[in-house]
Amino acid sequence: MTAATPLRLEIPERHKVEQTELHPQLNHAHVRFIGVGKTYNGQQGPVAALHGIDLAIQRGEVFGIIGRSGAGKSSLIRTINRLEQPSSGRVLIDQVDIGEFDEDRLVTLRRRIGMIFQHFNLMSAKTVWQNVELPLKVAGVPREQRERKVRELLELVGLQAKHKAYPAQLSGGQKQRVGIARALVHDPEILLCDEATSALDPETTQSILGLLREINQRLGLTIVLITHEMAVIRDICDRVVVLEHGRVVEQGPVWEVFGNPQHEVSKTLLAPLQHGLPAELQSRLQTQLQSPEAAVVLRLQFTGSATDEPDLAALFAALGGRVRLLQGGVERIQGHALGQLLLAVSGSSLGAEELRLRASRWAQQVEVLGYVV
Ligand SMILES: Nc1ncnc2c1ncn2[C@@H]1O[C@H](COP(=O)(O)OP(=O)(O)OP(=O)(O)O)[C@@H](O)[C@H]1O
Ligand SMILES: [Mg+2]
Repeated sequence: MTAATPLRLEIPERHKVEQTELHPQLNHAHVRFIGVGKTYNGQQGPVAALHGIDLAIQRGEVFGIIGRSGAGKSSLIRTINRLEQPSSGRVLIDQVDIGEFDEDRLVTLRRRIGMIFQHFNLMSAKTVWQNVELPLKVAGVPREQRERKVRELLELVGLQAKHKAYPAQLSGGQKQRVGIARALVHDPEILLCDEATSALDPETTQSILGLLREINQRLGLTIVLITHEMAVIRDICDRVVVLEHGRVVEQGPVWEVFGNPQHEVSKTLLAPLQHGLPAELQSRLQTQLQSPEAAVVLRLQFTGSATDEPDLAALFAALGGRVRLLQGGVERIQGHALGQLLLAVSGSSLGAEELRLRASRWAQQVEVLGYVV
């Protein structure tokens, strides 16, 4: 499979807008939201789903959108291919405002932007081959070209052997592979994924993520991805934005947001990835020092701002006494060490506060959680 030559729209000068000298990187953004708002006419009156969204997604990046249910994630992603029309503000693709596109230009735009869904949206009465071929037929692509494209895509997603199967005969992961192949028929530049792995088991999720990563790297696609699975963001995204009540509350490189979430919502969403205190330890933990034999419990957090893994021998030597590992682990995201260690230090000549200060040389955040006997 050769790298796709993206279908480019010609950009009439009058559509080229919003060059900014202040933030030159914005001028190269692949997708840019400027003050985007969306209000639906709900049955009980207007529902404000998005407010003043300003964001820039760069070409070739995998960009994650997270937030609680109802935060506005789907509304936002659907403004990129104008499945939703913003009520205010503008969406630019390659600096072109797509707000005023007529039907013809919308059709071209939607071919530049593939989309995959949680429930795959396949045609049950059509085979795998026919499902992938359909958008090409609709676009009037000649038969020979269609066959070449479908064969190439089924090979990319690893479904050559299943081309005669119907959706009902496929597993969830296989159905999503068909969905991905179908989304790529027009060599899009952008792939939108709304909860694309949410119906899959963890192993199948990993294989679909591997495929998305391959597509991102091999074809250079920009991927915008919504998921409620934080591990998916960790494993595949470059940057992430957190939405709450239709507003951006936090954004940044994944390692930074995951390593040190600032907003309450981000902390809550990311809590399952962070190891809490084991219940058994929590029940034994005392807040006051009640006996001299008690061990000080320290929580060391590695937020990724230092790129080295912690040197444990040096850390333990600096703390003195006997250091026991209660729980912990460090993982690497985008080359940054993130994680935490829970340590119990006993028999050290140092007090709790002094231990905390010493440990702060190795970890970005250190807390004294209490004491255990
Ligand atoms: N067509 C619609 N008409 C009226 N209200 C809508 C419509 N679509 C979405 N909403 C409302 O807009 C808000 C944002 O919805 P949206 O689907 O974008 O959230 P979401 O973050 O994708 O949530 P989820 O994680 O549950 O998919 C919600 O309050 C929702 O009820
Ligand atoms: Mg949604």
